[in-house]
Amino acid sequence: MARTSRVLGGLALGVTLALPGMALAQTDVAPTYSKDVAPIFREKCEACHRPGYIAPMSLQNYTESRPWARSIKNRVETRQMPPWHIDPAVGIQDFQNDRSLSQVEIDTIVRWVDGGAPQGNQADLPPAAVFADDDVWNYAERFGGPPDLIVRSTPHTMPALSQDHWWKPKVPTGLTEDRWVRAIEIRPSTVEGRRITHHALAMLEQEEDDPETIAQASGLAAGLLMEWAVGKEGEIMRANSGKLMKAGSNIDFDIHYSTAGEEITSSVELGLYFYPKGEEPKHRQVLSLWMGIDGGPGNLLLPPNEVTTSQMFHVMKQNGRIENFQAHQHLRGKGMQMTAITPDGRSRVLSRVSDFNFNWHNNYVYADNAAPLLPKGTVVEIQAWWDNTSANRSNPDPNQWVGWGDRTVDEMAHAWVNVTYLDDEDFEAAKAEREVALAETTDGGEQ
Ligand code: HEC
Repeated sequence: MARTSRVLGGLALGVTLALPGMALAQTDVAPTYSKDVAPIFREKCEACHRPGYIAPMSLQNYTESRPWARSIKNRVETRQMPPWHIDPAVGIQDFQNDRSLSQVEIDTIVRWVDGGAPQGNQADLPPAAVFADDDVWNYAERFGGPPDLIVRSTPHTMPALSQDHWWKPKVPTGLTEDRWVRAIEIRPSTVEGRRITHHALAMLEQEEDDPETIAQASGLAAGLLMEWAVGKEGEIMRANSGKLMKAGSNIDFDIHYSTAGEEITSSVELGLYFYPKGEEPKHRQVLSLWMGIDGGPGNLLLPPNEVTTSQMFHVMKQNGRIENFQAHQHLRGKGMQMTAITPDGRSRVLSRVSDFNFNWHNNYVYADNAAPLLPKGTVVEIQAWWDNTSANRSNPDPNQWVGWGDRTVDEMAHAWVNVTYLDDEDFEAAKAEREVALAETTDGGEQ
């Protein structure tokens, strides 16, 4: 990509990037909505920006989009929209659920707005986007029916006019025997519910036989099962791995509701597909809560009007595959980084969220061939930053001292990270498999 832009940049002045395969003669023509921008909105925005969904406006056609042109330019340029706040300059960039815009797409939208946001020729419009039927579970076809277990959050009513609500009911799963989970979906239970459900997290709470090992001494109580965001299909466990859901377990929901301008009551449904009884996956995925504060929560103290940082180190006692990264902070949170220091002394940044936004608790799930394989003895460093100054637009009061706590005006810093632990033999096999897969994908000399 960088190579393409350098070559073309010299030829077509003022054009920083061009779509691959684009004829040179076209690069100095401003993009149009119909031809260049609508395909991007279809793929990357409409899942949320359509009538009846959580975003404040629809972006399904030119008339709806045109008045928002300036704001769209600002939000995509700063990478606030689509909500995906992974730093593109550092760490792993290959994710299963990536909804970000490529630099080419950002440049196309910016050039479109700068060129007066023209409509162009309607004959160039791409076909309308097709969205899955919300009444059908996404994996119903794949697994031959609806989920084996559906856990519903206690209903909650959002008034017509209100601040956002965070609703956190605890609901028993009703399981009387242990089961292995192979896929998960989560969704608002009603059509109206989609308008107020900003996002939802479902955590698994259960007794563990060996909590020390399971949680890697992290003080873990509840395991994150799944995060729901509009447009997200669900999660299927990687081959031969699953989550163990125990008899007597509970689901802790954490649901973020926004008002839709009218009173709406809704709940969230967690759908679980189990491995058939007797068909146990070999590997157990466990969720770690990796703290980012040296010495623990009591040591968090943010002075007024300052940018501060802290970090904490976690030793992996067993080989493992890191499946995801999800940063958790509150309103003063600015960023979080996860670094692996392997026993050979090498240090590698795995992921960094550099523009944390409390509105969006994105879970960044690594692609199959990108999920880091870390040998036992690896030290994982979680580093967090806070901006308790007035430069942070979410900051309710830069003159306050801020400590650890549950309220959004208190702070936190931890990463939710799913780890699949592997014994030495399986770990070596996974590494060998990865090498083969990577050799195949890089055959074309892409990078
Ligand atoms: C996952 C859902 C989702 C996706 C995908 C998404 N948006 Fe949004 N967008 C929202 C929500 C919710 C808001 C309002 C809350 C906020 O700003 O965080 C919003 C706000 C905005 C705003 C600000 C509106 C205002 O009031 O000023 C703009 C502009 C915007 N989005 C553009 C886009 C564009 C362009 C895309 C695609 C390239 C996109 N969004 C993708 C959910 C989404």
